[in-house]
Order: sequence, then C-alpha cells, then structure tokens
Amino acid sequence: MNNKVLVTSALPYANGPIHLGHLVEYIQTDIWVRFLKMMGRDAIYICADDAHGTAIEIKANAEGISPEKLIAGFQEEHYRDFLKFHIEFDFYGSTHCDENRKWAETLYNALKDGGHVVSKEIEQTYCATCGRFLPDRYIKGSCPNCKAEDQYGDQCEMCNSTYNPTDLKDAKCTICESAPTRKKSTHDFVRLGDFSGMLEEWINAPGHVSEGVKKFVGQWLKDGLKDWDIMRDSPYFGFPVPGHKDKFFYVWLDAPIGYISNSERWCEKNNRDVEKDYWRNPDTEIYHFIGKDIIYFHTLFWPAMLKAAGLNMPNAVYVHGFLTVEGKKMSKSRGTFITASTYAENLDPQYLRYFYASKLGDNLDDIDFSFKDFENRVNAELVNKIANLASRSISFVSKRFAGKLSTLDEAGKELINKALAVKDKVAGYYQDRNFAAAVEQVCRAADSANLYFQESAPWALIKEDPEAAKRVCTAAINASRILAIYLQPVVPVYAASIRAMLNEGEAQYRWSALETLLEDCEIERFTRLVEKVEEKNVKQMVEASIVKEDKKEVVMEVPALEETIDFSKFMQVDIRAARIAEAEVVADSRKLLKLTLDLGSLGKKTVFAGIKKSFPEPGKLVGKTVAMVANLEPRKMKFGMSEGMVLAAGKDDEHLSLLELDASVPLGQRIT
Ligand code: 2FM
Ligand code: ZN
Repeated sequence: MNNKVLVTSALPYANGPIHLGHLVEYIQTDIWVRFLKMMGRDAIYICADDAHGTAIEIKANAEGISPEKLIAGFQEEHYRDFLKFHIEFDFYGSTHCDENRKWAETLYNALKDGGHVVSKEIEQTYCATCGRFLPDRYIKGSCPNCKAEDQYGDQCEMCNSTYNPTDLKDAKCTICESAPTRKKSTHDFVRLGDFSGMLEEWINAPGHVSEGVKKFVGQWLKDGLKDWDIMRDSPYFGFPVPGHKDKFFYVWLDAPIGYISNSERWCEKNNRDVEKDYWRNPDTEIYHFIGKDIIYFHTLFWPAMLKAAGLNMPNAVYVHGFLTVEGKKMSKSRGTFITASTYAENLDPQYLRYFYASKLGDNLDDIDFSFKDFENRVNAELVNKIANLASRSISFVSKRFAGKLSTLDEAGKELINKALAVKDKVAGYYQDRNFAAAVEQVCRAADSANLYFQESAPWALIKEDPEAAKRVCTAAINASRILAIYLQPVVPVYAASIRAMLNEGEAQYRWSALETLLEDCEIERFTRLVEKVEEKNVKQMVEASIVKEDKKEVVMEVPALEETIDFSKFMQVDIRAARIAEAEVVADSRKLLKLTLDLGSLGKKTVFAGIKKSFPEPGKLVGKTVAMVANLEPRKMKFGMSEGMVLAAGKDDEHLSLLELDASVPLGQRIT
C-alpha cells in the first residue's frame, strides 16, 4: 500500500524577503520530500505565504498600497527565491484565498459547535490618533522595572521582566508616537483547556514530536492552557469573522489552515479530493516542518483545531533549530542578514543545500553558518571528493575511449558492492532526517572510490593495458553515479547533470536506480559540474548584505547614581560559585537561556538569563563555573520560575561577558 503523504513547511510572512535563516527549513523539507519521492512515495509538498495580520496591514499603509498588492509582490518574490534554491513545492499559494476563508470559517464553526468558544470582554491598548488597537510590538516606552528606554509593550529586553503595556512609562504608539489609551472590546476565545487530555496523549504518543519538544510542551500542559484569543479588531488585514461586525480572525488562526486550503488548491488541479484523500483519510500521513519558535502554535492550537473539526492530526511535527551566522544572530549592520537573492547572486545555491544537509540532524540544535566551515566543507567534500571523481573519470573516458564504457573487473565489482552496501543505511538516515549522517556515509564511500581510482592510476595503466584502464574508469563512473543518486535529494541539479552525462535521460533518479550497472555503453562528453567556493564571493555576499543604518545622533544620557547603600546592604547580596550544568534556549524568547546551576551541596537552581544574544550556542556554556546571585527572591517569568541571576556585563546584549571563575573554586562557595 502506498499511503499518500502531505508535507508542509511553515508559511513565511508576506512582508519581508526570504533569508538564509528561512532556508534551513525549506531546504530541510525539500530534501526529505525529494527522498520520499525517490522511494516511490506518493508525497506532496505544500506551502504558501502567510498573508494576514497587523504587520502586513501597517506596512501596506506605510507604502501607500493595498495589502493585496503588497502580498502579491512578496508571494511572487518568495516563490522565485525558492526556485533558485531548487525547492520544489507541489503547490505554493497564499493564505489570502477563497479556499482559506472557507476553511477558516469551517474550523471556527466546528470549535463553536463543539462548545469550545467563549466570548469575553477585554481591555487593550488603543491609539486614538491611529484609531487602532495596538499589539505589544507597536507600543514602546520605558521599562517599569529597570527604566530602560525603548522597550516593547510585553517584555523588557534589558531586565527581562514581563508586564502589561499599561505599566510602561511614557508609552508611545510606534506608528504616530502619541500616548495610547485603553479601550474595551469583546473577543472570541478558544477554550484550549478543553483539549488538554487529548493533547497530552497526542504529544506522548511515539513519533509525533521529538523528546526535546515533548519537554517544552509537557511544561506548558503542566502550567495549564489559557484561553486563546482568536479575534482582532478592525483595522486588520484578514478574514472577517462571520456574524461579528469589524472583527477578524487572528492571523494565527488562519495561517495553519493554509496547509489545508492550499492542499485543496493542489487537489483541484490534480484530480484529488482534499478531504477524502488527505485530511479525512486515515491512511494519509501528514508532516509539518517548523522552527522552534512556533512549537506552541503547531503542537497545541493546531491539533486542537483539527480535532474539533474531526480532521486528521499530524503524524509528526518536526522541529529544527535557528540559524546563526558566524556564531551570532544575523545582523544587518554586520552583513550577516543575508537574503536568499543576495546569496544566489554570489554563490551556487547547491553549496548551501549541501552545507545545511551536512549540519542537519533530527534535533533542536542551532546551525551555525561559519564562512570558513562552509568554504572548507563544500570544497573538500562536494567539489574535491565527489565531483572530482566524476570529472576525472568521465573526462578520461571521453578523451581516451571515445566515451565508451566496458565491464567491471573483480576489483571494480568490489568497489561498487561496497558503495551499495550502505544503501539502506543512507536511506534510513534520510528517512529519519539525519541528513548529516547520510552525507557522512556518502563521503566515506567517495573516499574509497577516490582511493581506488588513485591507486589504479588509469592514466599510467593505459600505456600497457588500455582495456584494464577502461575497466577502472567504468568502475569509477559507476561509483560516481551511485554517489550522485545518494546525494540527489541534497544536490538535485548535480545529480541531473551526472544523469545527463551518463545518457540516462532527463528525469530524476529513483532510489531503485542504484541497482543498475552501466557497462558496455556510451556516455556523453564531460560538462563542468560544480566550481570551487571562492572566498572572494563569500566576501562580496557579505559586503552586499551590509545595511548601513542611518545612525541617529544618539546622545546617551548617563543616568544619575542610585541612592547609596551601606556596606552591610551590599553584603546581603549573596554571590556564590556555581557550575552551569545545563543550558538551553527558551523557545519563544529572543533573549533568554534557561540555565541549571549546580551549587554543590546547596543543590541546583534554575535561572532564566537574558544572555542568548551573546551566547547563541548554549551547549558551549555547560561546565563553566560562574558567579551567581543566589539569594534573589524567585521571580515568576513567562517561561517558569527564575531563582537567581548570573553575573554578566557588556556594552549591549550581543557583547556580554560572564564573570567566569576558576574551575577549582568549590561549588556553592561564597565569593564576596
Ligand atoms: O512564524 C512565522 O513566520 C509564521 N508566518 C509561520 C506560520 S506557519 C503556519 F502555521 F502557517
Ligand atoms: Zn498611533
């Protein structure tokens, strides 16, 4: 039985360009779907632009165009960029379409009919000048706790405290700068708690999410699920809520519904029924690929909506980590906020596919795009190991044997059998999304083939035994062919070039093509495969990405000193030596790392530290001995209890240094 498979990536917002961070996910998903198709699976890859919400409406306003025009432009640009990276969607649409409106209404009605929707009056921040309610991102002011200026309405980037927008000092609307007020409105909420039991079961069933994701979701479930506000007030760009005046569905309600509506649009063109064949077919498999910032939406809201409507739940939600560039968050001023189009103007997209594949495993780890690592890896492996073998053997046969292959001898058969022996292992790694391991296996096979070619030296052998030299080349070409088939999901254009040179026609390889042996046949002339990565192109790309921000003349006012404290007060701050036992990123937070600090005989404490921008790879912090304020009153933060503070300082969030102690300091020792 060949079950149908529907695979999605998260839908990118239609208000900005695709960049290298986005591409991790689309490349990851594309590799997986290509692999499934090679295995003969009936798989489709569906994606779309996420076209609704306040940000899009405000951007369109600012540009003096309609939101429809804005999103149409981005949809086209996104699709073009994805094509450059050989990302092959079966359908790429938008959430702003009739099908999505219909499905949004269907799911909303299902939630209502199931008794899961309640109406509540809420009070929100409102700008009377703009005539709109202001989401937290559109309110700025000074933090009520540490007084840092220019903070958003929900959380202070300096001291991490969370608060209501009304608590901000000197709050301003970021659009018109006037002081916001408060206004009441009645919204529909989904009672997510109704689904807790079902969600807990779903999360814990094998295969749905990884252990790492289970931990996050488990904690949210334990903390209790809050009612979810699914409405927004006018002005808003989205779908009106039936039966309500001036109310729209919140963008996050109709965004995942875009998975259904856009698969329906594919079905309309391909003679299939979206419900019978996909969303209500118990044999169909549904997989979502997402980043770790949107776990909540995909493992709680989305399954709850599907359940309410009696539609299929996903078979799995696969979550990847973030991308850092040169060890840091992408930055416009450093030139590391690299868009897909700037990359493609300077470097071959297949390099990036190969590089990401060589880094991707089935886990939440962040991936670092280090320029040196990128250059070394692609050149040493893809260019010098894999493509070079093909290039040397195919050119030799073209030039010296008029493009004719012969048969394999014993040594040649042994080489091919060895390359084929890892076939199931490589397939297993692809299936499990452990692409790094798949690529490593292929590189090992390439090493053996290169060694064979080098030691057999057909360029010398030809002088005394041309037939033997031809057999060596025949084996090397067959080995190159196997490597190309193995790597086709990762570098499809490379595999297609090999296929064309070997006279195997236009279509792509199936996995079963591995069994074919090319003997006694004619091949085409060699054409160039991949060029080396040149450092100068990487530099050009970075240069082209530097955004020279119009620096406003900032006059830094040095704050006056706080009131003096006497020495005994200072001594009340109990600073202890602690070892970082665990460090992990907090999904959904731009700034926080969750640290588990080991204080020796005093036990362990959990601290949420706002140091993520300086330490994007938290694993590297594990084992360090640091100074910890251990008697700070525990604070309840959005993500859990924080039981202290680690000492760190620096000019801004991205340049913090931890006060690191010598590893010989006993844990728990007082150090002031
Ligand atoms: O976080 C984002 O970029 C969202 N646009 C993802 C939406 S995914 C899905 F739910 F539509
Ligand atoms: Zn305003």
